[in-house]
Amino acid sequence: MNDLDQLFENNARWAKAINEEDPTFFAKLAKQQAPEYLWIGCSDARVPANEIVGMLPGDLFVHRNVANVVLHTDLNCLSVIQYAVDVLKVKHILVTGHYGCGGVRASMRDDQLGLIDGWLRTIRDLYYKHRDHIASFPTEEAQVDRLCELNVVQQVANVSHTSIVQNAWHRGQALAVHGCIYGIKDGIWKNLNVTISSPEQLPAQYRLRPYRPV
Ligand code: CO
Repeated sequence: MNDLDQLFENNARWAKAINEEDPTFFAKLAKQQAPEYLWIGCSDARVPANEIVGMLPGDLFVHRNVANVVLHTDLNCLSVIQYAVDVLKVKHILVTGHYGCGGVRASMRDDQLGLIDGWLRTIRDLYYKHRDHIASFPTEEAQVDRLCELNVVQQVANVSHTSIVQNAWHRGQALAVHGCIYGIKDGIWKNLNVTISSPEQLPAQYRLRPYRPV
């Protein structure tokens, strides 16, 4: 038996089940995708975007990386956001962290893991910024979980500060950036209630005027 046989069998069963439910499902999807949501989450295998929020293929545009980081120099993540906002016109961006995130935990420790340390560096900066607050939590687990939440809040801000999102607002496009967190221990996806949906919610220092070529 081939190493991947089980996976192909699973896939055949899955496609058949969807077809039985709605024989036009894949044909309709092949013509276009019109998701209302962009999910930005962690690569962690325990955080499967579609399953968590009960979404079918076509419902969710997805970007995942280690520790759900949004950097202003990351061409990959920014391209996903730009396409989702400008072309697909998603209405909601769901920045979703998760408790017990290994990337966040690594950002709090002094072990070297290699290339990934550079990727996680801004989370270490965030840990340093909030070190006193985080130290007030009694266990390492609780401290990691708190930094997981603070990381989501920071990434919501980073998404909102992009010219992509601010230009969508300038055009009058409805777009909300939400911060959520998922519990790998209980399967619960929770709203952190830090939604940003207009430029007025941004600090003045991050607000951009509409682009005017000179
Ligand atoms: Co993670």
